[in-house]
Amino acid sequence: MKNKILVAPSLLAADPLHFGRDLKEAEELGVDWHHFDVMDGHFVPNLTYGIPLVKALKEKSTIPLDVHIMVSNPDQVALDYVAAGANYLVFPIESVVHSHRLIHAIQEKGAKAGVAINPGTPLHAIEALLPYLDLVNIMSVNPGFGGQKFIPEALNRIRTLKSQLTNLGRAKKCLIEVDGGVNAETAALIIEAGADVLVAGTFFYGNKDKRGALNTLRGI
Ligand code: DX5
Ligand code: ZN
Repeated sequence: MKNKILVAPSLLAADPLHFGRDLKEAEELGVDWHHFDVMDGHFVPNLTYGIPLVKALKEKSTIPLDVHIMVSNPDQVALDYVAAGANYLVFPIESVVHSHRLIHAIQEKGAKAGVAINPGTPLHAIEALLPYLDLVNIMSVNPGFGGQKFIPEALNRIRTLKSQLTNLGRAKKCLIEVDGGVNAETAALIIEAGADVLVAGTFFYGNKDKRGALNTLRGI
């Protein structure tokens, strides 16, 4: 049986003056997770939000928080986001130093550990971590901004990763999340390639018909 596809709208595309309201509206429509794009102005050129906002919105939220930190120092700050309420903590493979140690530290704190991989980073950079990870975020744009165009080579990366996880007997234990340029045209291809979680910023929060957007992403 096919796993249900999970939809995680990215708050990056919500109204910054009304994050609490937008997050509640998304929950009422039945989204599965909230995706938070933390950017430090260093690992990526953009600067968004940090621990206090995650903490404040955690108190308002009743569904899992998927916190994607695009920072230069994940080893130093990841656990602070877990303490702030992240259910999934996703860090970049390109800036982490002690990836194996960090995965275990996140899991020991009771959260799920994920790694994100940029479009230009070979997939084998995360191979040694596949026995331990709860999630892999395949970046389908270069991180830093919402509203970018989907990079189609991501589809083959999803397929390769899915077969690696299947060979390890971990296809159901380690979710494949796809992040960037997810919309009506790309969602079906991404799901067909084997993804479990769709992150959608612009297509969800930028859409007047959010219920319709959610159904489209789920293929309904
Ligand atoms: C990119 C972020 C994405 C982004 C997705 O750096 O990690 O989560 O917000 O936005 P859209 O759906 O607009 O491409
Ligand atoms: Zn993200």
